[in-house]
Amino acid sequence: MKKIVFIGGKGGVGKTTCSSAFAVYCAKAGKKTLLVSTDPAHSTSDIFERTIGLEIVNIRENLDAIEIDAEFESTKYINKIKGNLKNIVSPVIVEEITRQLDAAIVSPGSHESAMFDKMTEIINEKVDEYDQIIFDTAPTGHTIRLLSLPEMLGTWIDSLMAKRRKAVKLFKMANSQDPNKLDDDPILKILMRRKNNMEKARNIMIDDQKLQFIFVLNAEKLPIEETKKAVNILKKYNIPVNELIVNRILPEDMKDDFWKNKKGLERKYLNEISEAFSNQKIIRLPLLQNDMRAQYIDEVAEYFKDIY
Ligand SMILES: Nc1ncnc2c1ncn2[C@@H]1O[C@H](COP(=O)(O)OP(=O)(O)OP(=O)(O)O)[C@@H](O)[C@H]1O
Ligand SMILES: [Mg+2]
Repeated sequence: MKKIVFIGGKGGVGKTTCSSAFAVYCAKAGKKTLLVSTDPAHSTSDIFERTIGLEIVNIRENLDAIEIDAEFESTKYINKIKGNLKNIVSPVIVEEITRQLDAAIVSPGSHESAMFDKMTEIINEKVDEYDQIIFDTAPTGHTIRLLSLPEMLGTWIDSLMAKRRKAVKLFKMANSQDPNKLDDDPILKILMRRKNNMEKARNIMIDDQKLQFIFVLNAEKLPIEETKKAVNILKKYNIPVNELIVNRILPEDMKDDFWKNKKGLERKYLNEISEAFSNQKIIRLPLLQNDMRAQYIDEVAEYFKDIY
């Protein structure tokens, strides 16, 4: 098992349930574990029946957890830039830039990239402290896009930096300052730090090969197709997918016709999954009678015993 695990899968398949149970399994196996939730619904708090929140907290022996909030992170990030602005530009310009920044908070992609910043920060700062870091991620498409974000954002940050350098140069020339002394500009500093963080996290995840994905899926047509696609995309990044979790498996002894048919269909899809993913270990999690709650979590964690 790689140190950093992203638990992925379509909306509602059971990512949060599986991440929590897997985290408990790792902690019980003696690994110092960090569970990072990116689920905006704070479902991890619901499962453990305690508030987790924006800072890392210990929730049981060997297990710490944090719930990242994308909206909070992007607002915090923008406010930091605003704070820095006040020291360097005139009030009129501050007002104009503030308006632009406020628009940026609601612009598409800004929560996503703030979330990614927070994820990279956790990876960079915590990779040595924990044996296992488990990310309960957003539905697959978003998460995979995140992996190409360092390149995309890298280019974007480079162009922002070029623009900023030009503006600072002009400003310094107009104010008889040395136009070549740019490293004291706080905006350039933020952009530089952001770029460095992203590159560092990318090195850890991809070059040092510390990242793997585990996909959760249900035994149904669409999740199988989506998982196939995702596994192929990850292959291109050399990110392994060694395990899949098939969640909500129906009991064997179905009595009435409706459920017997359902079970028959499920068997067909389970065979399809075994064939399509012959390189992956497949963990089967039964349909539980109740929603996942703290009292069942140890029981569900047992299903992960073949993982190590
Ligand atoms: N094996 C199971 N048996 C019964 N209920 C389950 C099972 N797995 C998950 N659930 C329930 O299904 C719902 C969705 O599960 P969960 O929140 O883990 O999915 P998710 O993939 O994290 O969803 P989202 O994409 O919205 O974050 C929850 O109410 C959860 O308790
Ligand atoms: Mg979830």
